[in-house]
Amino acid sequence: MSRLPASNPPFAPEAEFARRLDERDPLAKFRDRFLIPLGADGEAQTYFCGNSLGLQPVAARGIVEQEMSAWAEKAVAGHFEASTPWYDYHRRVTHPLAAIAGAEPSEVVAMNSLTVNLHLMMVSFYRPTRARQRILMEDCAFPSDTYAVKSQIAAHGFDPAAALLVAKPRMGEDTLRTEDLLALLDAQGQEIALILLGGVNYFTGQAFDLRAITAAAHRQGCRVGYDLAHAIGNIPLCLHDWGVDFAVWCSYKYLNAGPGAVGGCFVHERHGSDATLPRFAGWWGNDPATRFRMHLLPDFAPSPGAEGWQLSNPPILSMAPLRASLDLFQEAGMDALHAKSRLLTGYLEYLLHRIPGGAYRIITPADTAQRGCQLSVGTRVSPPVLLRALQAQGIVADFREPDVLRFAPVPLYNRFVEVWRVGQALHEAAASS
Ligand SMILES: Cc1ncc(COP(=O)(O)O)c(C=O)c1O
Repeated sequence: MSRLPASNPPFAPEAEFARRLDERDPLAKFRDRFLIPLGADGEAQTYFCGNSLGLQPVAARGIVEQEMSAWAEKAVAGHFEASTPWYDYHRRVTHPLAAIAGAEPSEVVAMNSLTVNLHLMMVSFYRPTRARQRILMEDCAFPSDTYAVKSQIAAHGFDPAAALLVAKPRMGEDTLRTEDLLALLDAQGQEIALILLGGVNYFTGQAFDLRAITAAAHRQGCRVGYDLAHAIGNIPLCLHDWGVDFAVWCSYKYLNAGPGAVGGCFVHERHGSDATLPRFAGWWGNDPATRFRMHLLPDFAPSPGAEGWQLSNPPILSMAPLRASLDLFQEAGMDALHAKSRLLTGYLEYLLHRIPGGAYRIITPADTAQRGCQLSVGTRVSPPVLLRALQAQGIVADFREPDVLRFAPVPLYNRFVEVWRVGQALHEAAASS
């Protein structure tokens, strides 16, 4: 059996072509390690919504039940005597998370949820002065980030309307050009305290050139943080080598850890032991050696590295499914996943371009270095009508106001025939509208 091609082959529109790609897919076996909801016809749904909530790994239930049993059988002793002791449970996910984030293990911690982590990071890394008070974000950033940013600006006594700087695409374009972002940094970098971008923008699916942006921002003396909700487990990341100051993410999208699952945080090692950084402290961020000397009421002594930003003891039941998913990432390898992802998404793009009549417009960049799995598609077909047509065929995608559908074929569990099916359904919906 020959392997999948390394780069986009000449694609073909027939279902047989998609079937052949599936036969040659070395990652095909991973699909059976996930639970795929059934559609009305009793068949597995064509689930293209892993950018919103990833599917449940088959192994997740067993790991959660293991913790439930440990709680039932050992109660408080489970902190040290469970088969995976709860006391340092968060460390079970550190190495695989570090591999996916391109980080040193000491730079990564699983904790809280994304917006909470973003606030904690801004407490440490957004240190505005009158001359340098601005935060640069991308147009159409996720609303929670904008709320967090504006409230941080206001908490420092500055005016969010003046201090928030939004980088917008050129007139008539959907996504930002790296050269424009870099020019903006050149022109206004001295006023910017912090850059906060989505590694992959949730709306457009655009992946930013994090290496170039980080370097340019640092030349201007800005701090750099990224919201990796749509990037982690989706695109290759090298946070350590790029010198990113901090990053935050959630685990319920491409990391398949379940609804509201524990989030994650990266702090570059050059900041890991910086005692001059202000931070909001909690007992779990304290050095474990003195964490339990409660009777002495000690001063907070942070653990070195990202762990020093923890507040509370780890939420075991929310971390357990993440272990199941990260095992799959380790087994499959991020390089292989990304190679398949490019083909899956490239094939969807190819099929969309073949649909005549201008019913659809892909707003995600065509440059594969500027995107991950997701294609965001503007449509002239009425979105509710289109979504109903897709649902009738067991296809799950999502819709974002005003007229954008997001499709994310995920390499761990989606197939090329599913991409073909989505292309076919979109073709038919356009023809009958
Ligand atoms: C890009 C992005 N940022 C932030 C959030 C908010 O995440 P949380 O609810 O875990 O704080 C989301 C949630 O979907 C998101 O997609």
